[in-house]
Amino acid sequence: MNVLVTGGMGYIGSHTCVQMIQAGITPVIVDNLCNANKEVLNRIQALTDVTPVFYQGDVRDEAFLDHVFSEQEIDAVIHFAGLKAVGESVAKPLEYYDNNVNGSLVLARAMRKAGVKSLVFSSSATVYGDPASVPITEAFPTGNTTNPYGRSKYMVEQCLSDLFHAEPDWSITLLRYFNPVGAHPSGTMGEDPKGIPNNLMPFIAQVAVGRRAELAVFGNDYPTSDGTGVRDYIHVLDLADGHIAALNSVGAKAGLHIYNLGTGQGSSVLDMVHAFANACGHDVPYKLCPRRPGDIAECWASTEKAEAELGWKATRTIAQMTADTWLWQSNNPNGYEK
Ligand code: NAD
Ligand code: WQD
Repeated sequence: MNVLVTGGMGYIGSHTCVQMIQAGITPVIVDNLCNANKEVLNRIQALTDVTPVFYQGDVRDEAFLDHVFSEQEIDAVIHFAGLKAVGESVAKPLEYYDNNVNGSLVLARAMRKAGVKSLVFSSSATVYGDPASVPITEAFPTGNTTNPYGRSKYMVEQCLSDLFHAEPDWSITLLRYFNPVGAHPSGTMGEDPKGIPNNLMPFIAQVAVGRRAELAVFGNDYPTSDGTGVRDYIHVLDLADGHIAALNSVGAKAGLHIYNLGTGQGSSVLDMVHAFANACGHDVPYKLCPRRPGDIAECWASTEKAEAELGWKATRTIAQMTADTWLWQSNNPNGYEK
C-alpha cells in the first residue's frame, strides 16, 4: 500500500512513517518544512534502510498536489500537515484557518480528482472542549472549542463529514488524539519544537537537560488528585500504530469512522514531573503558578471503540514515554539542529 503522508516530516508524521515502513507500507511525504527539519529523512533512513519519497510543498497548493498524485500511485492519505500551537492560533487566526481548514479542503479536492478516496485526518481531543465527565467517548458533543486551533480541527471534521454524506464512497477516518508525547526508543527521532515549547513534555525535557531553569506548573487548584491538570498522555509510537490499524481495518471501507487515540489513563502534571525525574535521574525544578487561561481540569479517553473496531490499544507506559523523551533530548539537546 502506498500512502501519501502530509506533514510526514513533523513529530507524529515522522514516527508514523517509520512504523509504516516497518509494517510494509510505503509512505510518500509531502511537507512544506514550516515546522520540520530535512534531517528527519536521514533519521528515517537510518532506522528503516528506506528513504521515503519526499516532496517539499504546501498542501494549499492544488497544482503541486495534482503533480504529486500524477507521479505517484497513492492508495490512501494521512493528513497531518497543519499548524498546532494554541496560543499562536489566537494571535494568527487567519493563518490557522488557512493552513488547517483551507489546506484540508484543497487536499480533499486534489484527492477526488486523482480518484483517491481514503483519508485519515489528524483531529484532536480539543474538539470535545471541556467535557461534562471523563472518560470521553466518541459520542460526546463536539464543537465547544475555546480557540482558533481547536475550532479549525472541528471545522475540518464538519467539512469531511459533509463530504462523506454527499459522496458516500469515501472512507474518512477522524482520529482524535489525546496528548502525544515520547520519542523513538532509539533516541534518534523526537519532538523538536521551535522556540519556547507550549506543551508540557517538551518543556519538562528542556528543563531536565538544562536549557530552561524551571517548569511553570499552570494551576494546583483543580479538582484533581493533586490539584494539577490531568491528561491522557500517549506514546507517539502507539499513536503511529493507531494510524496503521485504522488504515488496515477501516481505511478501505467506505464510511465516516471516528476514533479516540488515547490510553484511557489520566496523569497529572506532577505525575509527569516525577516520572521524568525518575527517567533522567535528577529532580526537575518547578514552581506552582496560576492556571493557564483556557485549560480544563481533566481529560482522558474512552478507548473501547478503537480497541473493538481497530483492534488497537496503546501499550507503552508513562515510564517508557519519559525514558524515550529523555534519551532523545539528552542525545539531541538542540533537536535536529546540529
Ligand atoms: P508538527 O508541527 O510536528 O507536524 C506538522 C507538519 O506539517 C510539519 O512538518 C510542518 O512542516 C507541516 N506543515 C504545516 N503546514 C503545512 C502546509 N500548509 N503544507 C505542508 N506541510 C505543512 O505537528 P505534530 O505534532 O506532528 O502534529 C501533526 C498533526 O496532528 C497536526 O495536524 C496537529 O494539529 C495534530 N495533533 C497534534 C497534537 C499534538 O499534541 N502534537 C494533538 C492532536 C492533534
Ligand atoms: C498539559 C498539561 C497544562 C505546559 C494541547 C492542546 C491540544 C493538543 C495537545 C493539539 C495541562 C500543563 C503545560 C507548561 C504546565 N494539541 N502545563 N506547564 O493543553 O492538554 O493540550 O496540546 O491538538 O489541542 O490544547 O497539553 O501539554 O499544553 O498541557 O503546567 O509549561 O500540562 O496546564 O494541565 P493540553 P499541554
